[in-house]
Amino acid sequence: MNNYLSRFDLRTIDELAPSGEPERQNYYMMVVRKILQAKFQDRMASGEALKYYGAERLQELTEKQAVGYAHIATFGCQMNARDSEKLLGILEQIGYLETDSEDADFVLYNTCTVRDNANQKVYGRLGYLQTVKRKNPDMLIALCGCMMQEQAAVAKVKKSYSHVDIIFGTHNIFKLAELLYRRLTGGKLIADVWEGTDAIVEDLPVERKYPFKSGVNIMFGCNNFCSYCIVPYVRGRERSRKPEDILDEIRRLVADGVVEVMLLGQNVNSYGKNLEHPVSFAKLLRQVDQIEGLERIRFMTSHPKDLSDELIQAMKECKKVCNHLHLPLQSGSSRILKRMNRRYSKEDYLALVDRIRAAIPDISLTTDIIVGFPGETEEDFEETLDVVRRVRYDSAFTFIYSIRTGTPAASMEQVPEAVVKERFDRLLSEVQKIAGEVCGRDTGTVQKVLVESPDDHQEGYVTGRLTNNTTVHFPGDVSLIGKIVDVRLEESRGFYYMGQPAENMEG
Ligand code: SAH
Ligand code: SF4
Ligand code: F3S
Repeated sequence: MNNYLSRFDLRTIDELAPSGEPERQNYYMMVVRKILQAKFQDRMASGEALKYYGAERLQELTEKQAVGYAHIATFGCQMNARDSEKLLGILEQIGYLETDSEDADFVLYNTCTVRDNANQKVYGRLGYLQTVKRKNPDMLIALCGCMMQEQAAVAKVKKSYSHVDIIFGTHNIFKLAELLYRRLTGGKLIADVWEGTDAIVEDLPVERKYPFKSGVNIMFGCNNFCSYCIVPYVRGRERSRKPEDILDEIRRLVADGVVEVMLLGQNVNSYGKNLEHPVSFAKLLRQVDQIEGLERIRFMTSHPKDLSDELIQAMKECKKVCNHLHLPLQSGSSRILKRMNRRYSKEDYLALVDRIRAAIPDISLTTDIIVGFPGETEEDFEETLDVVRRVRYDSAFTFIYSIRTGTPAASMEQVPEAVVKERFDRLLSEVQKIAGEVCGRDTGTVQKVLVESPDDHQEGYVTGRLTNNTTVHFPGDVSLIGKIVDVRLEESRGFYYMGQPAENMEG
């Protein structure tokens, strides 16, 4: 057993490891690759590889000089999705091939804990993975992400899911190669979760999901402590990346074919406040707008309390900034907003929407709303409906309040489930009714569409997005993917359009 390991001098390997990052991780990626190559050769020699992979997959692995298949499942928000691209970058550097299937040599779940159903999904899938691993005892299972920052979740995994091999958190994703090395060289369960960090490790490999668009982290963590929210506890304090690092990354992405970036942070409007040389988000946006070859800029998420007039002006003037703003409301009741620690009132929010619409009249607004926050009365809920009717959102993500242990709201008096459910249904139907009315407002016009994929439902069609984020389906082929084309919006079908390429229309 572990024949392949005896060919390596593990002590020397550790002694030679650089101490600085990212050099240290690049080193471990190389070492792990060599170890897994040796292991793969042993399995080839014994015939085990053929038995396990079958002829076709084995041929793919040998042709691509790969060490096995890896699968990453992402459970959370865009921040998690971006982390998964970094994790996949590391795994591919090690020599894994990505696969959609969980029947893989390395399976990684990047978890989310923002609401309890996110946690339950992970436990459910972990149970299923146990049966997969029984068939392939060599399989490695790793868990990372926000849920792993919670001690109770880690304890539960250790107790009930002993088939998990590696656990790490949100602060040390860059360390995946080193953790994998520890696991391969003898460790049983490798658990390494950091409580927090000041460090931002730049320049590790990244494997993007889309060639033409990309998320770009501009900051990590959150300092807002909304009373219902677990994110500040699992993502740590706010840290902004330096503008030069962000701009360099975007320039490199553009050189590599990216035309749209999504600037990511839990509260992008407070970007840059903690930098050595403070910079506002509005200034950053203007600099990103100057990057040649970049076509579209999106950002997520904006906290209403920090959305400045300077930013509204920058959004208006920057040509590449998309005509869409996600502005989480959470509740329309000033009383509830206070208990949520959101630090704006219903009136502040509505006045902000007025200022935004005065500057950018056709902007599409979307939002997040929580129903059933502790202490929410029928009157409070009516206030939320009132804001929804006044703002008329293009779409809204509606959530049932979920108790997060350790947050202030968890110990407040909860609203009965049946009441919450009934309010949730009323809100959802109001949101959908309004979205159906406003989403079609550009019918009959020609608009720029960034083509993203073949249409799932119709042969010979492609699917893309308007700058305001609405989806459009129109006749076209895959050569259009990643391109921005003029499309006449012929028909609105509630939340999306059917269109025709504008050239065809003109002759
Ligand atoms: N930083 C972003 C939100 C990140 S979480 C912001 O402040 O807007 C995404 C959304 O999940 C939140 O906007 C909120 O609507 C919802 N959410 C967060 N915690 C929740 C909880 N405990 N129960 C239900 N929904 C929650
Ligand atoms: Fe959570 Fe509030 Fe921070 Fe958003 S701003 S991540 S809702 S604490
Ligand atoms: Fe979930 Fe973490 Fe994002 S808790 S919503 S994955 S920041």
